[in-house]
Amino acid sequence: MVARGQPQERQEQRVGRRTRRVVGNWKMHGALARNAALLDACVQRFQAAAPGVEIVVCVPFPFLAQAQTLLRESDVAWGAQDLSPHAQGAYTGEVSASMLKEFGAAFVIVGHSERRAQHSETSALVAAKAAAALAGGLTPIICLGETLEEREADMTEAVVAGQLAVCMETLGLPALGQCVIAYEPVWAIGTGRTATAVQAQKVHAFLRARLGETGDTMTLLYGGSVKASNARELFAMPDIDGGLIGGASLTIDEFEPICRAFD
Ligand code: 13P
Repeated sequence: MVARGQPQERQEQRVGRRTRRVVGNWKMHGALARNAALLDACVQRFQAAAPGVEIVVCVPFPFLAQAQTLLRESDVAWGAQDLSPHAQGAYTGEVSASMLKEFGAAFVIVGHSERRAQHSETSALVAAKAAAALAGGLTPIICLGETLEEREADMTEAVVAGQLAVCMETLGLPALGQCVIAYEPVWAIGTGRTATAVQAQKVHAFLRARLGETGDTMTLLYGGSVKASNARELFAMPDIDGGLIGGASLTIDEFEPICRAFD
């Protein structure tokens, strides 16, 4: 596997015109000693992972320096789970894109449903964060998804289209094309209840169609209870380019087979 590096190496990662990715979202988990073991295992195991697959781990802010130290010579990229929409200033507790960049982050998750729900993040704020990430040279991973209530009310497409539309309007299509989109149905996150491959594919195809030509080159990830046992079926779908993995990214024995679950 070659995840980063020379242009010709990057070229090899593309399947058709899209990069396949598996992104671990550690959420608020980790401790220095445990992380070191997990990151070292990632370095070892992904030296010869599936060709054309980019592996990323998104760690809590305090562990970015550790990720930088342990992953800098490896094929594994790293990132954060949130950032400020502001470049700098009197924003106590916030972290800017340039700070993440100094610690070598290449990616940052924005609009995760846990932040939308627990921190009242609106789609407008999520789009502003994505814009700040792009301005700072980071690739935003923009999360979208419906709640169980919304799905049961047959509103899935309306909800994700609305979330996407705000990003399209704020960023414009060319800039949105530089982002990664993650479809994460809220009812499937941490519940063990995965969307079926067919359900997930339907939403991915819908999102890609909304993106028009821009969508042809974008990585669309699925997230929500992805495990070694269901990853292959999900990733085989034509519009699912990889996964955003929560719990199963915390142990190498679960994470590695997910990262290899491409045909
Ligand atoms: P789980 O894989 O633990 O369901 O979490 C998914 C997620 O929220 C990734 O961002």
